[in-house]
Amino acid sequence: MLRRLYHDQPESFAFTTANQTWAEAQITKYPEGRQASAVIPLLWRAQEQEGWLSKPALETVADMLDMAYIRVLEVASFYFMFQMQPVGSVAHIQICGTTSCMICGAEDLIAVCREKIADKPHALSADGKFSWEEVECLGACTNAPMAQIGKDYFEDLTADGFAKMLDELAAGKVPTPGPQNGRYSSEPLSGLTSLKEYDSGKTQYNASVQLATDIGDSIKRIDGTEVPILTPWVGKDGVVAGRAAEGQPPKPAPTPKPAVKQAEEAQKAAKPKAEKAETKSDKPKAKKPAPKKAAKADAADDLKQLKGVGPALEKKLHENGVTSFAQIAAWGPAEIEDMDDKLSFKGRIERDGWVDQANLLAAGEETEFSKKVAKGDVYED
Ligand code: FES
Repeated sequence: MLRRLYHDQPESFAFTTANQTWAEAQITKYPEGRQASAVIPLLWRAQEQEGWLSKPALETVADMLDMAYIRVLEVASFYFMFQMQPVGSVAHIQICGTTSCMICGAEDLIAVCREKIADKPHALSADGKFSWEEVECLGACTNAPMAQIGKDYFEDLTADGFAKMLDELAAGKVPTPGPQNGRYSSEPLSGLTSLKEYDSGKTQYNASVQLATDIGDSIKRIDGTEVPILTPWVGKDGVVAGRAAEGQPPKPAPTPKPAVKQAEEAQKAAKPKAEKAETKSDKPKAKKPAPKKAAKADAADDLKQLKGVGPALEKKLHENGVTSFAQIAAWGPAEIEDMDDKLSFKGRIERDGWVDQANLLAAGEETEFSKKVAKGDVYED
């Protein structure tokens, strides 16, 4: 199995807006310094978007995770779930050719692929809609022979049934994944011999097939014209159906919290020192943000010197107008809460002690972490 960069690469790659938002949210799931752990989800999303992983796509993911390009290439080329060359715009079919499937008819399925798609694996069909390859055991041995298409398993296949399935796909239909011989899941072909009291037919399909059909997340069309089908679970507003609680989609722009707003207003009004006393209830809040305004005009600091801030968070901070240590050093509880919301990472600022770190750095001192950053020993996010 040769897995290397394709000889004909596109000029560039960019996530769609919705996918970019999704990817950035994924990165925040991992602990500080471990953002590289998001490499597989990000690569998979890039592949879902384009069908395969081009060099620009690998570089984009590497940049987002502050990883060396070669490390991302290593991951992409190691797992055969990642395609390193263009695939069919409707379906790339992975036929399991390992023992159980081979005994049960995988070679017949491959013969169908050769006849209907292309003689050689990884070659596109004449209409560009299909491609295929043989892969190692996919862990569905009791339902052999089987094929994976995108995220779905199509099991208990026969050559005739599989050929019809390809015809359906070519005609724009989406076959139902799961066992294709009437089995519910992987129960014995002759019927249940135990646990008979459990009614396996409570849902129309087994759990994974039911979910795939319920959310409509099945075969992808990757021809560039049907973008909504690539992410059917994402609404036009970028919100993932039923997943709002996970924080995946972008939140609506948070409205300023009353306390912060009051503090900002008080700050604006605080030019004459004598007036300060008039905002008695705002006093603690108005006092802290004062340096923020003055610091804004300063040259940007390298915020990555703060433990807990890497390239992605630094970018978000810049987007929110925070560019200097002095600004962060001036944050009070209200500003911290507000920024927690904006960064979608509750508690991180206090947990990592950004304000204390920023106080030292703003004063020209160093922290243990900033020393490491200066030496190039570490990066954070
Ligand atoms: S042998 Fe084919 S899924 Fe295991």
